[in-house]
Amino acid sequence: MSSLFRLDASIRQDGSFTRDIADRLVAAAARPDLSITIRDLGNAPLPSTAWAGAVFGPYTPADQRTPEQVEGLTLAATIADELLASDAYIFAVPLYNYGVSQHFKAWIDLLLTDARFAPGTESPIAGRPARLIVAKGGGYGPQAPRHGWDHATGWYMRMLVDVLKLEVELIECELTLADVTPAMESLRPQAAQNLAAAQARAEEHGRSLSARLTIAAAA
Ligand SMILES: Cc1cc2nc3c(=O)[nH]c(=O)nc-3n(C[C@H](O)[C@H](O)[C@H](O)COP(=O)(O)O)c2cc1C
Repeated sequence: MSSLFRLDASIRQDGSFTRDIADRLVAAAARPDLSITIRDLGNAPLPSTAWAGAVFGPYTPADQRTPEQVEGLTLAATIADELLASDAYIFAVPLYNYGVSQHFKAWIDLLLTDARFAPGTESPIAGRPARLIVAKGGGYGPQAPRHGWDHATGWYMRMLVDVLKLEVELIECELTLADVTPAMESLRPQAAQNLAAAQARAEEHGRSLSARLTIAAAA
């Protein structure tokens, strides 16, 4: 039995590119002995008081903790347990306001309060495979007017690769707003190509993830 953890951060349920690409990845990876844990932060964000509660809770005697501290510590342990219990990971996250999803940021802030994931400790999930899906409404390549304005993808990678020490494959999909933005009309053919490429890459990475989990389960 292998287990896959999937995190969604899009604030949309319908029409979400990250969810569509992640769905395809999961479908390509699926097999009877694969269980899937879903943490849908877009649909159910973590409470904004959880992080401060989890940061200061450990410095407060257990019988004097506030409800926010108790909740924060419990939630931190829950999300840490979810990662520890999984063999592979999918993170489906958008670019918002040239930066990261606040829901994902809240999640990682809370995760790092748990003693097992605390900064300075060896990541307990080091070396496990992960797929990072990032959707962006615009384009940020070298020729784009806003080249350098994507302040999200680098940070997502930094946290997953250098802090959690996961083996990450990145699947990006740019120009997702082209179809609904008149000023981006000329970019629609490129947007369609980007989406098809990201979907194909997701399916390919779903299959490679499944193969890797099979090898790990047999070892
Ligand atoms: C509130 C909000 C802010 C956004 N900010 C940006 C942005 O700064 N740059 C960009 O390229 N796209 C931006 N977008 C577009 C999203 O990145 C794009 O729609 C992406 O596909 C969202 O992921 P989803 O399709 O899974 O919902 C924004 C979208 C929303 C809803």
